[in-house]
Amino acid sequence: MEKDRKLIIAGNWKCNKTVAESVALVTDLKRELAAVKEVDIVVCPAFTALDAVSHAIIESNIRLGAQNMGDNGYGAFTGEVAPGMLRDLSVRYVILGHSERRQYQKESDELVARKAAAAHTANLIPIVCVGETLNEREAGITEQVVEKQVRGSLAGLTPEQVEATVVAYEPVWAIGTGKTASSAQAQEVHAFIRRVLVQMHGESVARRVRIQYGGSVKASNAREILSQPDVDGALVGGASLEAKGFVDLIRNSI
Ligand code: 13P
Repeated sequence: MEKDRKLIIAGNWKCNKTVAESVALVTDLKRELAAVKEVDIVVCPAFTALDAVSHAIIESNIRLGAQNMGDNGYGAFTGEVAPGMLRDLSVRYVILGHSERRQYQKESDELVARKAAAAHTANLIPIVCVGETLNEREAGITEQVVEKQVRGSLAGLTPEQVEATVVAYEPVWAIGTGKTASSAQAQEVHAFIRRVLVQMHGESVARRVRIQYGGSVKASNAREILSQPDVDGALVGGASLEAKGFVDLIRNSI
């Protein structure tokens, strides 16, 4: 499957796994995926396991991501994790504005945009999540919702920063439900997101942005979804929690 943009497949482990379980999983992935060069492979463990996983993947082709971070630097921000603390652990990516955080922590586009800017300043690559709910899709407002999230969550970034940002389209109704968007539904929204990026920053920036699909991606459906022209990777929840499923998913994507 040839594309200009390199595929990026990230496992979002969400609020799962002890440190020992995280190291065991990533050690299996490291062994099984050592030969993979065609895909950028990222794992996003819980904060508590980042340090141990970081050590476990030294000199491997697996990169480390976090699932969130604070929008400020170091200082009196109890309970927050600063971007620099993530860099200190050799974290390269950070998921921002996941729908679970938008829903449970009421994260706004404005906050996500501040975090995205802070991530770039710290040399982290943000994976900015957008996506409509089932009600919004059924009301026929998917494009309005997604456009508002894309514009709002990337507001204030320079063209260079946008180019280096990963956008993840995750329809909320497809997350953890087993209901995947059809490849045509995914492609339609991905192409729409790219058109919004063209309006914001022009063709050459938009052409370079990688747009991942997320929502019940697994080994059996990854190839079909990733074969779409504007789908440049996957953000995987459930199917990334077990080595065989994630390894098969990545192998099937190449
Ligand atoms: P599932 O793959 O479990 O549907 O989760 C998707 C997701 O939210 C990844 O961020």
